[in-house]
Amino acid sequence: MSSATKDGPPASGQTASFGYREVAAEAHQGLVNDVFSAVAGRYDLMNDLMSGGLHRLWKDDLVAWLAPPKSARAFDLIDVAGGTGDIALRYLQAGGQGCRAVLTDISPQMVAVGRRRFAQAGLSERVSLAIGNAEALPFPDKSFDAYTIAFGIRNVTHIDRALGEAFRVLKTGGRFLCLEFSACEVPLLDKLYDFHSFEVIPRLGALAAGSAEPYRYLVESIRKFPKQERFADMVRAAGFGRVSYRNLTGGIAAIHSGWRI
Ligand SMILES: C[S@@+](CC[C@H](N)C(=O)[O-])C[C@H]1O[C@@H](n2cnc3c(N)ncnc32)[C@H](O)[C@@H]1O
Repeated sequence: MSSATKDGPPASGQTASFGYREVAAEAHQGLVNDVFSAVAGRYDLMNDLMSGGLHRLWKDDLVAWLAPPKSARAFDLIDVAGGTGDIALRYLQAGGQGCRAVLTDISPQMVAVGRRRFAQAGLSERVSLAIGNAEALPFPDKSFDAYTIAFGIRNVTHIDRALGEAFRVLKTGGRFLCLEFSACEVPLLDKLYDFHSFEVIPRLGALAAGSAEPYRYLVESIRKFPKQERFADMVRAAGFGRVSYRNLTGGIAAIHSGWRI
């Protein structure tokens, strides 16, 4: 684990939630990076095991809602916290020859897995990979037609800064789409989901990936993330218009959409 100031007093006095723990804001990203560098090699397998494959359907839904153009006209997507490339791969496969993607992620280990997958899919020509922080994207204003972030935003230290960056890099008329775990409000399904989250997932992590800790963080960070309406308000506060959301599987996950108008 990172030796950053995780247990010491916060230098700025600010804290951030790392799962159920409050840590110094300066230490938060280092702790998150430790989680993803530890799981990168097994990330795709664990996603399937933990969600029973549901994450694939949710990602298909995100790309279907984006509806990438089928034409040869240039259309530029930035997929932030893109990890091993699930969203960018789907987008390039669904869209026409004009669709190009930039995948950016703070973890070199996750991006390295993604690079291999794009090569295997024969899509390396239409994607660029960049190491970058969602809170300070290394791209000029108004560069992209669409911005996606899937299961990424709950990991950033300052969600408002990441949303501000999303707005900044989108062209006028550009689309923001965020897929994230959310609040399940279906009776019984919520109980089942709690049991799965707190009893099954950490054990699966211990068995399949050798450690329960990163998976405990993943589960806890999901519960700390703002619910559907509150997150929609945060998206509006960043400047987006026509904000709406769709629940997936009873609200276990949700896709939020907004436009830079
Ligand atoms: C749960 S994974 C999601 C990966 C991919 N989008 C998917 O849906 O499979 C979360 C990703 O967020 C990345 N991440 C965490 N904090 C970040 C930040 N501040 N900026 C950019 N990426 C970040 C992690 O490195 C990790 O790859």
